[in-house]
Amino acid sequence: MTEVSQTESAVVKQCCANIYGSEAARYLLGDSFHPGGLRLTEEIGLLLSLGPESLVLDVASGKGTSAIFLAEKFGCKVIGIDLSERNVTDANAAAASHGVSSLVTFRLGDAEALPFTAGIFDAILCECAFCTFPSKQLAASEFERVLKDGGRVGISDITKDKLSIPGLDGLLAWIACIGDAQSLQRYADWLSSTGLVIQVAEQRSHYLREMVQGIRSKLLVAEIMIGLKKLDIPGLDLGKAKAFSSAAQEAIAAGYLGYGIVVATKNS
Ligand SMILES: C[S@@+](CC[C@H](N)C(=O)[O-])C[C@H]1O[C@@H](n2cnc3c(N)ncnc32)[C@H](O)[C@@H]1O
Repeated sequence: MTEVSQTESAVVKQCCANIYGSEAARYLLGDSFHPGGLRLTEEIGLLLSLGPESLVLDVASGKGTSAIFLAEKFGCKVIGIDLSERNVTDANAAAASHGVSSLVTFRLGDAEALPFTAGIFDAILCECAFCTFPSKQLAASEFERVLKDGGRVGISDITKDKLSIPGLDGLLAWIACIGDAQSLQRYADWLSSTGLVIQVAEQRSHYLREMVQGIRSKLLVAEIMIGLKKLDIPGLDLGKAKAFSSAAQEAIAAGYLGYGIVVATKNS
């Protein structure tokens, strides 16, 4: 499903924002909500040629972990936008506790309608979120619009090379970034259709394998702790989460599901 009605689109976006603001997401994923964590963020930061002079937009910045890391690592200024109010509040608090509030700020915003004037960012980062946007075409056009000439965009995302994968359909799949995940080539095509020029399009699927393994271990611990009444994670349906992660593991092993990066430039 690549195009949805406006009502469906609003529901999907809000569900996604609520889930990724929740305790359950933090328990299962930690602070960095994408495969590869900050190792992959650093790799993309290097491909984006970030430095102290760069103004970076982190689209769908989650808890702010990547944006704060980029400011600390490369000295750049970063603005993060996210649809979840809770994430924006937590991310601003995290920037303050890292002492980087002068470099990094977070605000509410929708990737499909970026709240910025044209041509102001040197770089855009979008990690594990592009595939959840109901209109990827709109989001790609927005990326191109707010980039300066010569600016670069780097996305990392779940890749899917089979239309439907058993056990990985429905709203949960969409929120877990799987439902509307696409092939690496499709992501590259969306960016290049706006005039951006593709520099890199490569798989990094081992990071997804690691992440799903980590989630499965945490679910096992959670099951024991919840049974002993030593843990309560509101919003976590253990049975569904276990079945879902097992289906994901099989799809990764079969090569249908993966993770990849695309970097593109806005040529003047
Ligand atoms: C899988 S998390 C990734 C968060 C972060 N990029 C990271 O890697 O840690 C997806 C994020 O996308 C945000 N999101 C979903 N749809 C969005 C939209 N249309 N505009 C902005 N943020 C959105 C969610 O609130 C969530 O924080």
